[in-house]
Amino acid sequence: MTARLNSICSALVLALVTTMCVINPARAGDAVNAAPGKAAFDRWCLGCHEALPGRGWDPPAGTFVLQQRGVSPADLESRTDLSAQSIRALVRSGINIMPPTRKTELSDKQLDELAAYLTRNNKP
Ligand code: HEC
Repeated sequence: MTARLNSICSALVLALVTTMCVINPARAGDAVNAAPGKAAFDRWCLGCHEALPGRGWDPPAGTFVLQQRGVSPADLESRTDLSAQSIRALVRSGINIMPPTRKTELSDKQLDELAAYLTRNNKP
């Protein structure tokens, strides 16, 4: 009886571990995702600037507008031509339907980290 219980328990543990691995697989981008600027991007920008088609009900507005304008790639995380200076200015001022993000929401230090994240793949 104990042996049978043991094997049932082992099977359950195995099933649980397998499920956890399937639900939460290690992704290739995990090292980059750990960048502090990535957290700020996810919090303040992703909703409008994620890659199309996006996970929400509507296409992400920023990516959509930029794509319509012919910017390619249109999602900010894939860009290699943005300057830290223009990102900092745009985030504080906002543009069109993009709202300004205040220092009480995103500190200057966090904005620097965000700009560093979005320019990480720029050619020197
Ligand atoms: C409510 C949606 C919204 C949010 C939130 C938002 N944006 Fe935008 N963003 C837009 C739209 C729409 C545009 C295109 C504006 C235009 O030029 O007409 C844009 C444009 C930009 C551009 C200019 C890109 C280019 O090629 O001209 C940058 C850079 C940018 N956003 C960065 C950010 C960052 C960084 C954040 C987060 C702090 C952010 N945005 C948050 C909607 C948003």
